[in-house]
Amino acid sequence: MTALLNVQNLSVRFPIKRRWGQTSWLYAVDDVSFEVQRGETLAIVGESGSGKTTAALGVARLVANSGGTVGLGGSDFLALEGEALRKARAKVQVIFQDPYSSLNPRLRAEAIVREPMDSLGTLPVAERPARVAELFKQVGLRPEQMKLFPHQFSGGQRQRIGIARALATNPELIICDEAVSALDVAVQAQILNLLRRLQRELGLTYLFISHDLGVVQHMSDHIAVMYMGKIVEHADRLSLFNDPRHPYTKALLSAVPSVDQKRKVERMLIPGDPPDPLNPPAGCRFASRCPLVEDACRAAQPPLDAVAADHKVACIKA
Ligand SMILES: Nc1ncnc2c1ncn2[C@@H]1O[C@H](COP(=O)(O)OP(=O)(O)OP(=O)(O)O)[C@@H](O)[C@H]1O
Ligand SMILES: [Mg+2]
Repeated sequence: MTALLNVQNLSVRFPIKRRWGQTSWLYAVDDVSFEVQRGETLAIVGESGSGKTTAALGVARLVANSGGTVGLGGSDFLALEGEALRKARAKVQVIFQDPYSSLNPRLRAEAIVREPMDSLGTLPVAERPARVAELFKQVGLRPEQMKLFPHQFSGGQRQRIGIARALATNPELIICDEAVSALDVAVQAQILNLLRRLQRELGLTYLFISHDLGVVQHMSDHIAVMYMGKIVEHADRLSLFNDPRHPYTKALLSAVPSVDQKRKVERMLIPGDPPDPLNPPAGCRFASRCPLVEDACRAAQPPLDAVAADHKVACIKA
């Protein structure tokens, strides 16, 4: 099987102005590598600030990378230009968390869904209205709702508009960044079901970003756990939930009540705050909060090594 998405050594850093005119670099994503097979879902989980959104933006080329490659169906997405880039952009779409702020309030729903086709020119103009109508049907919205404005929809319906818009250019990869986090639980389930059905019907590949392991449990084939810009554990879903190896992953899992009760993961709270991202520790970034820490952990960054088939962990104690 060839990976649709092959991310190698991706880094994204932000310049942060300090006093006396100095600039420090914040490595929001630091040398991250992963693959996603066609038709599968890789979930990226981690606490707030761990770099999930920045990784997504880096993959989608919506923020400048400071290193690495993003292979998309065999070509290097980050190296493309001109017409080739325009074509590739149509293949990668992002659904954001907040359907309230990510939809232009002054546009009717039909114009919002149509916009990617207009800007990327993926379909002859005459065919666009029919395609918009088809997309509305596909995401479970009614034809008469095409004329409404975003404020006339519920949160779940707005996210359906966001999904229809993402589908407009026939993408292969859809990046969902906290796509259901702003919705209440019942509506979350509906949208997750819709995303799964669309994946089956259209053969979509998902990069599914969420801080909520309960959601990820229903929505992933593989899971990458991020901590301070690094992937600390990467495994297939069952291995990650049944046999978590990194102390940070164990702590995250124990904070999910349903997961905790079912799997009887030893309950463990994550003490302390993450270190200053502008001044990360030399060794393992989780060392300052890790219950298993020993001197060697502070000496060097542990590499992300295989501990089993389909299971990699960056921890010398794993
Ligand atoms: N444009 C920016 N300029 C400077 N720093 C940024 C910028 N965007 C993100 N950061 C920093 O990069 C780090 C990663 O942020 P990011 O938004 O990717 O995390 P996240 O995992 O998506 O968090 P959340 O769960 O809150 O969405 C954080 O320390 C954040 O403050
Ligand atoms: Mg985010």
